[in-house]
Amino acid sequence: MLKDRQCYGFLALTMKILNAHLNLIKLFSYFLIALGCSLAFGITLSFYSESFSSLNHTHFQTPQNLSTTSATVSPPSPPPPPPPIPEVLRLPTSSNNDVEVMSDEELMWRASMTPMNTQVGVPKVAFLFLVKGSIPFAPLWEKFFKGHQGFYSVYVHSDPSFNSSSSLSGMDDGVFRGRRIPSQEVEWGKFSMVEAELRLLANALLDDPSNQRFVLLSESCIPLFNFTTIYSYLINATQTYIESYDLVGPTGRGRYKSQLGPTVTVRQWRKGSQWFELDRDMAVQVISDQGYFLLFKRACKSSCYADEHYLPTWVNMNKLGARKNSNRSLTWVDWSKGGWHPARYRRTHITIEFLERLRGKETCEYNGKVTNICYLFARKFLPDTLYRLMIYAPRVMHF
Ligand SMILES: *[C@@H]1O[C@H](CO)[C@@H](O)[C@H](O)[C@H]1NC(C)=O
Ligand SMILES: *[C@@H]1O[C@H](CO)[C@@H](O)[C@H](O)[C@H]1NC(C)=O
Ligand SMILES: *[C@@H]1O[C@H](CO)[C@@H](O)[C@H](O)[C@H]1NC(C)=O
Ligand SMILES: *[C@@H]1O[C@H](CO)[C@@H](O)[C@H](O)[C@H]1NC(C)=O
Ligand SMILES: *[C@@H]1O[C@H](CO)[C@@H](O)[C@H](O)[C@H]1NC(C)=O
Repeated sequence: MLKDRQCYGFLALTMKILNAHLNLIKLFSYFLIALGCSLAFGITLSFYSESFSSLNHTHFQTPQNLSTTSATVSPPSPPPPPPPIPEVLRLPTSSNNDVEVMSDEELMWRASMTPMNTQVGVPKVAFLFLVKGSIPFAPLWEKFFKGHQGFYSVYVHSDPSFNSSSSLSGMDDGVFRGRRIPSQEVEWGKFSMVEAELRLLANALLDDPSNQRFVLLSESCIPLFNFTTIYSYLINATQTYIESYDLVGPTGRGRYKSQLGPTVTVRQWRKGSQWFELDRDMAVQVISDQGYFLLFKRACKSSCYADEHYLPTWVNMNKLGARKNSNRSLTWVDWSKGGWHPARYRRTHITIEFLERLRGKETCEYNGKVTNICYLFARKFLPDTLYRLMIYAPRVMHF
């Protein structure tokens, strides 16, 4: 036990060094110490391995207070992983298949140690594209990003079997080229969706300390404003945008699993859109959390729609998070038709009036003031809307 405590001391020191300055030489030596410690840990923990043996995806909580809040959940302490010596972090591109791909465990562990508040250079918005295959709106996004290099980063999570070298992928050229992160298969309604979201967040945190805001998008999402408007809105926002609300009924509280109790009660259970927008602080906290992650993962047997509940509930459980969160989504969607999927828009739906409506026919709060810019993005648009959107973009959306 004493040994464990010493190890925690060493690890805490490692984290402090990391968070203060990235002094690589010190880092290297502390990693070696930590490596020794974690081996000792591994031996100790093998006695308690029962609760871990079935887990193939573990988030590693760092011993230091990474998150500014203390969650009420107290999961069993996991073994710190053997910290590997970092190589130069780079995104593998389709032409660069020999790059060693990190495991999710290693990825989350490394990302959880990235500094929260430090900012290097001009702040950037990280656009995280969670897609099945191609990016049909690549030409629209290309137009949107044009002339704003240095103010944004792009990351793509796509089905691993998808060939992004083909010219139809939307990823063979321009802003999406080489931006695909090591991805895994995602199934609709399953927990793998949440894992893919976290993989995107972790990659964006690690890749560039200038990434300060993180927005999740799908292949059917479009921007409703030009880059400068969206950039200022996000960079200057004092809140985060995770939709989170309590819904009585089968698609809300009805999806609560009793295995989540007593840590998460049905009263604390929340629902919300998968399409979030976070700041760096919260992104690091989300990545560092392993208690709720494992709890939800275990409770999610097959289809549990965790993507619509994990973050909305997580932010509700997290006191500071709940205070900072706006509880609304920045991505417009129409559920008014009912059913399992929101309304999907085709070519003929795309008119100037329709786009104007999405851009400003509602009011909401932004940084404590009332605004009519409530949504920066919208979904779900079918690929055949591209032509009209390209034509209307300069006229309606000013890009
Ligand atoms: C960690 O958080 C706890 C509870 O918020 C606090 O009492 C403690 O002082 C913190 N430790 C550090 C090192 O910040
Ligand atoms: C991917 O597409 C490119 C271009 O169409 C082709 O040359 C390549 O063979 C494809 N790769 C696979 C694994 O199918
Ligand atoms: C944020 O708001 C301040 C004050 O209104 C303004 O000066 C600044 O340009 C804004 N930043 C961005 C990135 O728009
Ligand atoms: C968001 O919801 C939380 C409860 O989960 C609440 O405490 C907070 O005040 C809400 N925030 C806003 C801006 O309504
Ligand atoms: C961007 O859009 C805003 C309106 O949302 C407009 O006022 C501004 O002029 C546009 N910027 C450019 C560079 O077109």
